[in-house]
Amino acid sequence: MKVLGISAHYHDSAAALVVDGVPVCAVQEERLSRRKNDAAFPTGAIEWCLNHAALDPGDLDAVVFYERSMLKFERILTCALRSFPHSWRSFPNAMKNSLGEKVWVRGIISSHLGVPRRKILFAGHHQSHAAAAFLTAPTRRAAILTADGVGEWATVTVGHGERRPDGRGTAITLLREIRFPHSLGMLYSTFTAYLGFAVNEDEYKVMGLAAYGRPSMAAQVRKLIRRTPDGAFVLDMDYFEYHTTATRSYSPRFVELFGPPRNAYEPIDLETTEGQRFADCAASVQRVLEDTLVDMARALHQESGLTDLCLGGGVALNGVANARILAESGFERVFVPPAPGDAGCALGAALYADRTYLGNPDRDVPDHPFWGPPVDPEELARVAREDGQAVEELDETALIERIADQLAAGRVVGWMDGACEFGPRALGHRSILAAPHSSEMRDRLNRDIKYREEFRPFAPVTPIEAADRYFELPPGGARLARFMSGVFPVRPEWRTRLAAITHVDGTARLQTLERGMAPRLYALLEAYGRRTGIPVLLNTSFNVAGEPIVNRALEGYSTFRRCGIDALVAGPTLVTKRASAPARRLKEEVA
Ligand SMILES: [Fe+2]
Repeated sequence: MKVLGISAHYHDSAAALVVDGVPVCAVQEERLSRRKNDAAFPTGAIEWCLNHAALDPGDLDAVVFYERSMLKFERILTCALRSFPHSWRSFPNAMKNSLGEKVWVRGIISSHLGVPRRKILFAGHHQSHAAAAFLTAPTRRAAILTADGVGEWATVTVGHGERRPDGRGTAITLLREIRFPHSLGMLYSTFTAYLGFAVNEDEYKVMGLAAYGRPSMAAQVRKLIRRTPDGAFVLDMDYFEYHTTATRSYSPRFVELFGPPRNAYEPIDLETTEGQRFADCAASVQRVLEDTLVDMARALHQESGLTDLCLGGGVALNGVANARILAESGFERVFVPPAPGDAGCALGAALYADRTYLGNPDRDVPDHPFWGPPVDPEELARVAREDGQAVEELDETALIERIADQLAAGRVVGWMDGACEFGPRALGHRSILAAPHSSEMRDRLNRDIKYREEFRPFAPVTPIEAADRYFELPPGGARLARFMSGVFPVRPEWRTRLAAITHVDGTARLQTLERGMAPRLYALLEAYGRRTGIPVLLNTSFNVAGEPIVNRALEGYSTFRRCGIDALVAGPTLVTKRASAPARRLKEEVA
């Protein structure tokens, strides 16, 4: 049975295809359209999925949308009417968006794909998050906790899942939910906006900034969020405006409590009182978010008596919170999928419909993130030769040894290998790799390659067998680090030798790599370890600030030519930048 999942019209549109119960491919629209966080109907992603699987739309048994659009419309309408006349400005906009896209999804899908309306199904937004987390994890029974900004009404759900053998079906039961406007995701996003970052995009910058601050304003943050005896919470909406208008997140009362917001165009100077106040603010909301999640997870552990927890929703991208949940909630194993956010809902919705609506038998889902378009090494060789660069085709061993030499010599390598990752993180197929040892390397990457804020840490990747030597991993930590979903301390004795990947608070968001998941990167780590004694590399996503992660070889090449990457790899093809090539001037030529 062939099931297509779609997420669209909010942020991070995506499509995913499940055939006979197993994912075949999945890709975020932004990787194809090259518009970061593209929220448009994912025409490109759908087309690529169908082409990749050699299917016509008529071959599909079902197309599943990742939320119930009528319920979402009801929520938008209800909130607008509740706050009328305060909402009169946002009301027409909300209506236009909803009427134009959100409500009429069935018609849009039907007309885009030409599939009959009866084949178009809807999964609840948090059911999609829950399925994306639970049905992709190597567990048969687990508690489930999802948290995001908002879907239809729910912002947090708790429940459990069971994959039963012998054709007895799959059950995902969401027991309770917290409803909009009370939302951990919106609380965090409000601080994201207050701190001058882009909402729904830059939340991870708040987490990065938090490490520079002290949670000295946690008491103030707790005025915004009141815990209830049943383990839930409510927000004091006097401090917020996101529920009444699309243009502002926080109210004048919020500003009274925390001081003037940051101007997005001014850099954060941590040497000043003002800069430190922003870092303290980030640390405070981060602390309150963690405490709330840990308490909810602990209560869920006690209630369910289960050993495994699956986390879904955009809030599960918060690796610091995830690590605390693992350490403090009582669960032995915590699983976070590579794409816990809304893009991942495309896969979650398809799996949910396959197992529950269509009643198909349980299947194991391969435990990796590589569901996107494959890179074409010949495309790289062609464009690089046309552009006058040095191109070599090397056999596997020679290539690995050469790249290890280059990394050990301080060069920066663009690394493309096989299928693109599904999810926001580069996990070894679209990565920029570098030596992790010096803070100069971190500064060089921020300045010449990623063009981004200097408080942003870089992440390391290491073979799973070596991880304990360099990082303090609790039981279950290596699993959480499989898709870079946890932040853990770097062992103190290694911090100066791993300065480029050690955050200011001594932690790192590492990836523990199993050989089978990305064998070429694994071999490279071994080769690098033979040269330097430390099989750890700095691994950052292959993109520059403001752009989606590269997908095709051509995009990798364009990025390579525009920034300070020294060498570029796709399959057996190695391109080494000529010293005389003035990279940045060629921006327009190859973009
Ligand atoms: Fe969501």
